[in-house]
Amino acid sequence: MDKKITFGSHFGTIAAVGGSVIGLGNIWRFPYLVGSSGGSAFLIVYILCSLLIAVPIMMSELLLGRHTRSNPFGAFRKLSEYKIWSMVGLLGIITVFCIFAFYSVVAGWAISFFKTAIFEGFTGHSSQEISSNFKQYINTGWQPSLAALIFIVLTAGVVIGGIKKGIERINKILMPVLLVIIVGLFIYSFSLDGFSQAMNFLLQPDFSKIGINTIFAAFGQAFFSMSLGMGAMIAYGAYVRPETSIPRLTLTIALADLTIALLAGFAIFPGVFTYGIEPTSGPTLIFETLPLVFSMMPAGNFIGIIFFFLVFIAAITSSVSMLEPIVQFVMQELNATRAKAVVFISTLIGIAAVLCAYSQVENSSLIVFGENIFDFLNDATAKFSMPIGAFLIVIFTGWVVQKDIVYKQITNDGRHSNSLYFYYRMLLRYFIPAVLGVFILTTLFN
Ligand code: PHE
Repeated sequence: MDKKITFGSHFGTIAAVGGSVIGLGNIWRFPYLVGSSGGSAFLIVYILCSLLIAVPIMMSELLLGRHTRSNPFGAFRKLSEYKIWSMVGLLGIITVFCIFAFYSVVAGWAISFFKTAIFEGFTGHSSQEISSNFKQYINTGWQPSLAALIFIVLTAGVVIGGIKKGIERINKILMPVLLVIIVGLFIYSFSLDGFSQAMNFLLQPDFSKIGINTIFAAFGQAFFSMSLGMGAMIAYGAYVRPETSIPRLTLTIALADLTIALLAGFAIFPGVFTYGIEPTSGPTLIFETLPLVFSMMPAGNFIGIIFFFLVFIAAITSSVSMLEPIVQFVMQELNATRAKAVVFISTLIGIAAVLCAYSQVENSSLIVFGENIFDFLNDATAKFSMPIGAFLIVIFTGWVVQKDIVYKQITNDGRHSNSLYFYYRMLLRYFIPAVLGVFILTTLFN
């Protein structure tokens, strides 16, 4: 890879990394998990996990990328003579491929709802109608498939443009738009009757609800939302400029990620409670409930258009960061041009996405371990691939990579605070491997 390719500016770096991190994870996955995993109890574990576990892991991925200027597979190969380590990079590339497959189906839902909001609007439909329309839509199989394919083609278009002209540019424009829209929706939700009930649900700590499933869900969500454990941040780290402070960048991103997830939760749950919708409905929560909210609110059609556009923006700025590591891998390891790599990988992802969409059709036989392919990939990546990937990345950075390299990357050659480096290293070498080790063993034996 050309070592000189980096993000062009500080703002561009934050927008690109923020664009990856802030996505359907915040707006679609976080609300349905809060709803189904115990509200505030989930939130507490999630926040702790983000700050104490996800932040150091993100710093590690970024530093591996910036030091090697390589794709996830190449980064491990360059830093250790033992070939086995590069398998961690390969596992990451497979994981991100699987995530992209089901992610594009959800992003496709957003595209379809955006279209509905524009051409038909939501007003005048009852809750049964809205829910049965959505089921019908999923049951066609071809409609969600087509929408997912459109989404993949759009992502491919951005990634073909390269780092500065494609990825960085689109993020610099779209991320501020996203922020404005979500803050607007949050402010609107104050006016709903269910606002205080939603606040209680999200903010009144109920420690009795913290069980093993809450913890599992919170860990998986922290990795998913921060794009960790599969090398997406190694890939972006490769474009981080030498003068950027990795700890500062990571903390900014982590806080932004938490803030957007909370804003999304606060924007969505008042509607859920106002209109008596079940918080535990799972992955379809926002798609089954929000159209109803829009159908009943003043200017609901207009807000619906804006909202589904927001979901689309959040999704595409993340999906480019899923495609990029795989493309980087094919370019660097198989010597392909960017355009060829993008077309090749997007075609494979398209096939996987269609399988995911058809697996959701009622009575579909596309079932793996008792779940449809969509749910299986969503669960298995969060429960296994990401935590295992993250565990190995942490062991590698803490115990295998030379100390000097890590020190130089974290402190920018000693120019930044040493004490931060000290805490980072403690968490990296002892705390996180212990916690993740217990987590992984518990998952395996459950
Ligand atoms: N973090 C993204 C989100 O919250 C999803 C993602 C996962 C992006 C893996 C890149 C890699 O939606």
